[in-house]
Amino acid sequence: MITLDKINVGFRKENTTKLFGKEKKQVLFDVSMHVNQGECIGLLGESGSGKSTLGRIICGLLKPDSGTINVTGPISIVFQDYTTSANPRFTVSQIIKESLSVRERTQGIKIEKEEEVQHLLELVGLPKDFVTRYPHELSGGQLQRVCIARAVALQPKTILFDEAISSLDAHTQVQIMDLLLKIKKQFNLTYVFITHDLTSVTYFCDRVLFLYQGRVVEEKKVTDLARVEHDYAKSLLYSIVDIRSNEK
Ligand SMILES: Nc1ncnc2c1ncn2[C@@H]1O[C@H](COP(=O)(O)OP(=O)(O)OP(=O)(O)O)[C@@H](O)[C@H]1O
Ligand SMILES: [Mg+2]
Repeated sequence: MITLDKINVGFRKENTTKLFGKEKKQVLFDVSMHVNQGECIGLLGESGSGKSTLGRIICGLLKPDSGTINVTGPISIVFQDYTTSANPRFTVSQIIKESLSVRERTQGIKIEKEEEVQHLLELVGLPKDFVTRYPHELSGGQLQRVCIARAVALQPKTILFDEAISSLDAHTQVQIMDLLLKIKKQFNLTYVFITHDLTSVTYFCDRVLFLYQGRVVEEKKVTDLARVEHDYAKSLLYSIVDIRSNEK
């Protein structure tokens, strides 16, 4: 479960030395949200609207200037840029074992790591002999599956995806979303799914928050999307309807 209440975040502007402290550019304004256990919420907004900043707040990587955050259980993160989020000198096995070692330390347990890596590869639909491969020997979709295995290996309650499928082709995106739905069901996970793409949200999420210039301007169940009221949300929706009608 995740609850945010009136989160405000600003970043210091460079080259502005005011007499009393530095000037700040506010990026998030009074953002409140609630996500239930087992729910998948989409955070949708254009570039620069504050999605990743909000993601960093949820994960505890960034402290807000004001507001409160309540998160139950550990969170794993899957980023867009899987090529840099996986150490290029590590094999697939080593990448996944990193998470398992974290769990050994934090939970004070001993894990049969080789065996667990095999289970996780199977879970994400990769051949078991991939253990010895390096990131550059995998396709983008395969490497993102490794990053998903690494995220699941931490046994989180929540996984936050920051544009995690955005750089994959449409077909691979659907495959990965199906995989994520399967994993979510199996482990009763909560998902926070950051994206600028409404299509993936409708495929995948229960509810969507529209972020516009650092504010939550609309919140809708995916089944109620036709009833959005804010202009930005409407423009996104209509652009998709246009694309779909062009396809026919
Ligand atoms: N560490 C930082 N220092 C200063 N400004 C920052 C920092 N991180 C983000 N910003 C600014 O905050 C605003 C929101 O950035 P954020 O990365 O949250 O947007 P986003 O919605 O994730 O965009 P995108 O879709 O391009 O990833 C931007 O104007 C950005 O320049
Ligand atoms: Mg971002």
